[in-house]
Amino acid sequence: MLKFPKSAALSVLALTAFANPAFADGDIDAGEKVFKKCRACHAVGEGAKHKVGPELNDIFGRAAGGAEGYKYSKAMIAAGEEGLVWDADSLTEYLTNPKAMIKGTKMAFGGLKKDEDIDNILAYLKSFSTEQAAASEAASESAEGAEPAENATAAPAADKPATETALVVETSQGAFGLGRKAMPDEIAAWDIDIRPDGTGLPDGKGTVAEGEPIYAEACAVCHGDFGEGAGRWPVLAGGQDSLLKERPVKTIGSYWPYLSTVFDYVRRAMPFGNARSLSDDDVYALTAYLMYLNDVVEDEEFELSKENFTQMRLPNEANFIADDRLNEPHYAKGEEPCMSDCKPGPVQITARAQVIDVTPESEGEESSGGSID
Ligand code: HEC
Ligand code: HEC
Repeated sequence: MLKFPKSAALSVLALTAFANPAFADGDIDAGEKVFKKCRACHAVGEGAKHKVGPELNDIFGRAAGGAEGYKYSKAMIAAGEEGLVWDADSLTEYLTNPKAMIKGTKMAFGGLKKDEDIDNILAYLKSFSTEQAAASEAASESAEGAEPAENATAAPAADKPATETALVVETSQGAFGLGRKAMPDEIAAWDIDIRPDGTGLPDGKGTVAEGEPIYAEACAVCHGDFGEGAGRWPVLAGGQDSLLKERPVKTIGSYWPYLSTVFDYVRRAMPFGNARSLSDDDVYALTAYLMYLNDVVEDEEFELSKENFTQMRLPNEANFIADDRLNEPHYAKGEEPCMSDCKPGPVQITARAQVIDVTPESEGEESSGGSID
């Protein structure tokens, strides 16, 4: 249902007819910084894809809910059908307080509070809208032309010139000749696990106080100011003493056994939608801050580093035990498990998954994938 008043749409038209657009004095570079707040959910620029939210290329002049292939909320679709088109004024209203303008929008974002931030972000977004496309296209074409053709084989983590990495590619020696050997740079980019004993930790350090602003900027939008979780996004703190209750709240402080998992997870996967964007020092500082939110440390000046990392203990560690199943009598003979023809005699089908309702039928609605709410 539409909550965007038509009268507001009309006055927006009237205003833009003779007033300068609000973002006229916005600064594109400053806007790019403000866009950090959006980047977890939105992409913009060449090759931008839908993430949690739709891609924002050509947003100026685009009807609300108008990006192809993105599954909008009913509220956003209705707003577009009623004629809402994104321009400086409607974007200003939406970005100031999304839920106030479009009740039922699934954009879980509190809004930008500073006029200046809005002016700047509009200037930034405008630079990816068609009116400006000619200028920026020319620039990106010449940049593309400069890249060597071997780039296609470059490793995910390769920031060296493509020619260097392209040379070490070896085709597979396997029976089918498919694929090729992984390059050292590729392996290094994937091999980032951190173990409870500290294996894999990079050099670096960060304090609780340093972690706080990073958390406020990059994490609080989903996980809440104190790790309490915004909306249905995961809770990161609290829940101590809830494990034996009917609805345990499993957080870093209440449940997780090892701090290495926090470091590994944040470095590998967060912020959601913009993974691997944090520096190692940022991850140390965020891990320290998450310990603080969970009352594992109390001093804001506490500094977590590669050196003191393994001395840290999470409260629930003792409730985890090593996997010792191989010592159980069942496995004691140490025999190889049966992998083929293990059941004597012919096999009979006794029930089908759909009949016993393991796989409920969908109700005709096509799943769009990738939409999280
Ligand atoms: C937590 C994720 C999240 C964050 C952060 C976020 N957005 Fe969104 N945004 C969404 C989602 C989801 C939608 C789709 C809304 C709907 O369908 O109701 C959306 C929709 C929009 C739309 C409407 C697009 C269209 O095609 O109609 C604009 C414009 C927008 N966001 C801009 C921004 C900007 C600018 C920021 C940063 C200041 C931002 N968003 C931050 C998730 C987010
Ligand atoms: C756009 C929303 C979003 C942002 C921003 C975000 N996260 Fe998350 N976070 C998630 C989602 C979704 C999950 C659960 C993912 C899953 O289960 O696959 C998650 C899971 C986590 C977990 C694991 C929680 C658990 O108990 O399983 C941690 C720790 C975490 N995030 C830390 C962070 C930190 C630190 C930041 C900031 C650098 C951050 N997140 C930014 C959405 C977000």
